[in-house]
Amino acid sequence: MLMLLMFQLAAAPPPIVKPGCRDRCGDISIPYPFGIGKDCYKNEWFAIECNETVSPARASISGIKMEVLNISAERAAATVKGPIISSNCTGRENGVPLNLSGTPFIFSSDNVFVAVGCNTRALMSGAEQDLVGCKSPCSDVESKNFCLASPSSILQVFNLTDDNQDREGCKMAFLVNQTWFKSNISDPLTVQYIDYVPTELVWMVDGDIDVHSLSCRGYQNESFGFQCVCRWGYEGIPYRELGCKGKHIYIFLQKNE
Ligand SMILES: *[C@@H]1O[C@H](CO)[C@@H](O)[C@H](O)[C@H]1NC(C)=O
Ligand SMILES: *[C@@H]1O[C@H](CO)[C@@H](O)[C@H](O)[C@H]1NC(C)=O
Ligand SMILES: *[C@@H]1O[C@H](CO)[C@@H](O)[C@H](O)[C@H]1NC(C)=O
Ligand SMILES: *[C@@H]1O[C@H](CO)[C@@H](O)[C@H](O)[C@H]1NC(C)=O
Ligand SMILES: *[C@@H]1O[C@H](CO)[C@@H](O)[C@H](O)[C@H]1NC(C)=O
Ligand SMILES: *[C@@H]1O[C@H](CO)[C@@H](O)[C@H](O)[C@H]1NC(C)=O
Ligand SMILES: *[C@@H]1O[C@H](CO)[C@@H](O)[C@H](O)[C@H]1NC(C)=O
Ligand SMILES: *[C@@H]1O[C@H](CO)[C@@H](O)[C@H](O)[C@H]1NC(C)=O
Repeated sequence: MLMLLMFQLAAAPPPIVKPGCRDRCGDISIPYPFGIGKDCYKNEWFAIECNETVSPARASISGIKMEVLNISAERAAATVKGPIISSNCTGRENGVPLNLSGTPFIFSSDNVFVAVGCNTRALMSGAEQDLVGCKSPCSDVESKNFCLASPSSILQVFNLTDDNQDREGCKMAFLVNQTWFKSNISDPLTVQYIDYVPTELVWMVDGDIDVHSLSCRGYQNESFGFQCVCRWGYEGIPYRELGCKGKHIYIFLQKNE
C-alpha cells in the first residue's frame, strides 16, 4: 500500500528590510525600498525620516516631504497625508499645488479626485500632459457643490485652476482614497475643517528586480515604469536585495507498507 502524506508548513515571513535596518517607525511598518538611514533605502527618493520626538512617531518621505500613514509592501502602495488644496476658505491657508514630476511616485488610480465649491475647476496633469479634472456645479443647495473624477493615467501634478470668473466662497480640491471618501465623508464641504485626507501613492520600480516571483503592471504607460508586487503564493519584497519567497513549504512523504 502506498500512502502519500503532505504537510504544509507556514514559512516564517521573509524580512522586509535589509539586514541591520529598522523595519518600523513607531507604529508604521517601513518596508524596502523605503528605509531609515543611508544604507537601508533603495535610493534617496525612498529615504524615510522618522521623527520620534512626537508621540506617536511620524514617518515622512523626505524627498517629497509627505507624511506617511501606512506603507503596504503587498500592494506596493503608500498612504500619505494628502493635502487639501484650497482657496478662500475661512481658517485655511490657500493650499500649495503638489508636483511629483521627476520622482518615482505617482498618484494611485485607487484615489478619486474631488473638487468642491461653486465653479471650482481643479486639474491634474501627468507625464504626457494628460489632464483629469472636473468643474463643480453651482446648485441651490450650496453645501453639496462638488464633482468627482477618476484619475486613470499617470498623474503627478495637482493644482487648483483659477478661472477668474467666480471667486465666491470656499473652493477645495483633493485626491483621496475612494473607499475612505465614500465611507467617511457625507458632505464634502466639511473637508475644510480637517487637516488632510488619506491619499494613495504608488511607486515605480527600476530594472533591478526579482523577475521570477513577480507580478507587475505597467502603470498605463509602460515606458514610465512598473508597479510590482510578489506573485500570488509569494510574499516579501520584490527587489533582488530581498526577494519574494514562497509562502508555504510543502513536505511530501511517501510511505510504503
Ligand atoms: C519632529 O516634529 C516636531 C513636531 O512637529 C518638530 O518640532 C521637530 O522639529 C521634528 N523633528 C525633526 C527632526 O524633524
Ligand atoms: C496598513 O496596511 C496594512 C496592510 O495593507 C494593514 O494591515 C493595516 O491595517 C494598515 N494600517 C493602517 C493604520 O491603515
Ligand atoms: C514640476 O516639477 C518639475 C521638476 O521639478 C518641473 O519641471 C515642472 O515644470 C513642474 N510642473 C509644474 C506644473 O509646476
Ligand atoms: C509614454 O510616455 C513617454 C514619456 O512621457 C512618451 O514618450 C510615450 O509616447 C508614451 N507612450 C505611450 C504608449 O503613450
Ligand atoms: C497652480 O495654479 C496657480 C493658479 O492658477 C498658478 O499660479 C500656479 O503657477 C500653479 N502652480 C503649478 C505648480 O502648476
Ligand atoms: C471669497 O469669498 C467671498 C464670498 O464668500 C467673496 O466676497 C470674496 O471676494 C472672495 N475672495 C477671494 C479672494 O476670492
Ligand atoms: C482605502 O481606505 C480603506 C479604508 O480606510 C482601506 O481599507 C484601503 O486599504 C485603502 N485603499 C487603498 C488602495 O489603500
Ligand atoms: C472612516 O470610516 C471607517 C469605516 O468605514 C472607520 O473605521 C474609520 O475610523 C473612519 N476614519 C475616520 C478618520 O473617520
